Amino acid sequence: MKLFRSKSNAVLGVDIGTHSIKLVELAGSYANPRVIAWGVAPLPVGAFSENTIANSELISDALNGLIIKSGAKGESVAVSVSSSHAITKVLGMPVDISELEMEEQISIEALHFIPYPIDEVNIDFEVLGPSSNNDQENDVLLVACRRSIVDDYIDLIEDSELGLKYIDIDTYALERVYRSQNSLTANSDQPVALFDVGSSTSHLMVVDDERVLYSRHQNFGASQLIKLIRKEYGVSADEAEEILHSSQPPGDFLTAVQEPFVEMLRQEVSRALQFFYSSSAFSNIDSIVLSGSCCALNGLAADLEMKMRTKVTVLNPVANATVQMNRDAITRMAPGLSIAYGLSLRGLM
Ligand SMILES: Nc1ncnc2c1ncn2[C@@H]1O[C@H](COP(=O)(O)OP(=O)(O)OP(=O)(O)O)[C@@H](O)[C@H]1O
Ligand SMILES: [Mg+2]
Repeated sequence: MKLFRSKSNAVLGVDIGTHSIKLVELAGSYANPRVIAWGVAPLPVGAFSENTIANSELISDALNGLIIKSGAKGESVAVSVSSSHAITKVLGMPVDISELEMEEQISIEALHFIPYPIDEVNIDFEVLGPSSNNDQENDVLLVACRRSIVDDYIDLIEDSELGLKYIDIDTYALERVYRSQNSLTANSDQPVALFDVGSSTSHLMVVDDERVLYSRHQNFGASQLIKLIRKEYGVSADEAEEILHSSQPPGDFLTAVQEPFVEMLRQEVSRALQFFYSSSAFSNIDSIVLSGSCCALNGLAADLEMKMRTKVTVLNPVANATVQMNRDAITRMAPGLSIAYGLSLRGLM
């Protein structure tokens, strides 16, 4: 593995999904990132399932192949755990508390809301800044995840002879990409809805200028799009994937497949937003930002915008980055690379 690769300090952002692994390697700085390698490798069915590593050997093989094919040089990797496995809570902590005291306090607080034995979870925390309702306290974000899930990622990266730089939460990586692009932030006092469409699951995150207001998973994804193609054209799953990627899809693709899929997407986004509205004081959003590989479909954002009567944009993580290789090729895959990009971007912060 290491034979033909010269060293680089860059962090490889690696997003492992149900359908594929996405990799992005950035160099430069947070303000001026440069994409030096990227790639996507499909995973065999069942390798990654229900947001967990199901067959680490298959994933390790695909990851090693992807690193060689993409020409990535970094040896430190950042991976993410699905937010569906993370338990988070914001706690108020006195501003003058020492790091050690904070750790002790957090271990005690964690006992109250983590539904697993404490020795079976990994706990991390980050000081977010002064609490809005108490100037003697800082808000501290506590994140916990079952140790067995984290250990699977640690073993996977070790088996691939790479170094694990950090384990993040996928939604934090996505939020980082969004916040790195000023053009997307709200130009009203309404929050923005980030909607990530994966292969099997989707995730809504509602954010304001500073923080995440709401987060929710739904069982919806590009697998529904594949089902529509299979039904419409009587083809296998692999053939449906080929049709999806074809530069010359069937003549009725837009009306027979894309339109019904966008209608399903509208229903899912609307349903998720209704849950947000009913749990908050908001009854509107500024705009919707889509991510996930299938959101690269031509015209998808415009179709959804028309149906929702709300501004819809597709996240293009490389919009502010210099791309040394073929920009067209990465732009076509860009919405699907968002999480991997956000993981690598953390290495530049
Ligand atoms: N350029 C593209 N245009 C349309 N669809 C695409 C494109 N690239 C990939 N897809 C489709 O998107 C689906 C995979 O989506 P994605 O990569 O977001 O899933 P994943 O991250 O592996 O899954 P999950 O997040 O649910 O674990 C596949 O069905 C794939 O064919
Ligand atoms: Mg995904």
